[in-house]
Amino acid sequence: MNDFSQLVQSRQTTRDFNATEITADILDRILDDARWAPSWSNTRAYKIALATGETTKKLRESYLREFDAFSVAQASQTPPDIDGDYDIFARYPEDLRERQVQVGVDLYRHLGIERDDTVARGKHMRRNFEAFGAPVMGLVFIHRDFLPYSALDAGLMLQTIFLSAKAHGVDSCPLGVLAGWRRPADELFDIPAEYALVTGFALGYGTDAPVNQFRAAHPPLDIIPERHTPAQHA
Ligand SMILES: Cc1cc2nc3c(=O)[nH]c(=O)nc-3n(C[C@H](O)[C@H](O)[C@H](O)COP(=O)(O)O)c2cc1C
Repeated sequence: MNDFSQLVQSRQTTRDFNATEITADILDRILDDARWAPSWSNTRAYKIALATGETTKKLRESYLREFDAFSVAQASQTPPDIDGDYDIFARYPEDLRERQVQVGVDLYRHLGIERDDTVARGKHMRRNFEAFGAPVMGLVFIHRDFLPYSALDAGLMLQTIFLSAKAHGVDSCPLGVLAGWRRPADELFDIPAEYALVTGFALGYGTDAPVNQFRAAHPPLDIIPERHTPAQHA
């Protein structure tokens, strides 16, 4: 396998980090690599907020408060007070739902968590909101008036961060769940009104906890077959 294939296949979503800080030099190098990501008309229609040290602590605490309030609301069947820019709880399109369910089933099976063990599932879910203990937390914002290109560009940038991180020995975790809430971001960062929170992410050093041995399925790309008969136009 060539070096790039090896790098790209060694990146995985890490769901347990130790407390080792990433040095400012390594973090700078990762961010510097990310500026080389391609972008629609070179607009780079995204921004990131990065939390390290004390700021990570505050962001983590704030997200944990939101999750705990959400859990209480769910338990008492009252509407949760969520204020995200996008509805991360919306039902997935039918053709994608099976994949969404599958990764959850596979992960919980790997962790030995039964389907109806809501306590253990809640405990695992809560760890997302503390970024699985990572020392660096990031938030990705996209220009609201430049979709879908802003989201596309942000994705290219984020994968560049993850791959550069891996090349520097740093593990990563995308954290879409954080996009369910804006308040924690607004408390700590001055975010321009035209930018919407699309996902969070975490960087740090993975532990050897069993959760980090989990490997999601990576089937071949869906390639649309070529038509053998011309399309009929009305
Ligand atoms: C935008 C985005 C958001 C994600 N959000 C979460 C998340 O909130 N929590 C989580 O555990 N995994 C999250 N993931 C990780 C995916 O579940 C993971 O990428 C997928 O299952 C493939 O596994 P791999 O990254 O280990 O190869 C997210 C991935 C992406 C790209």
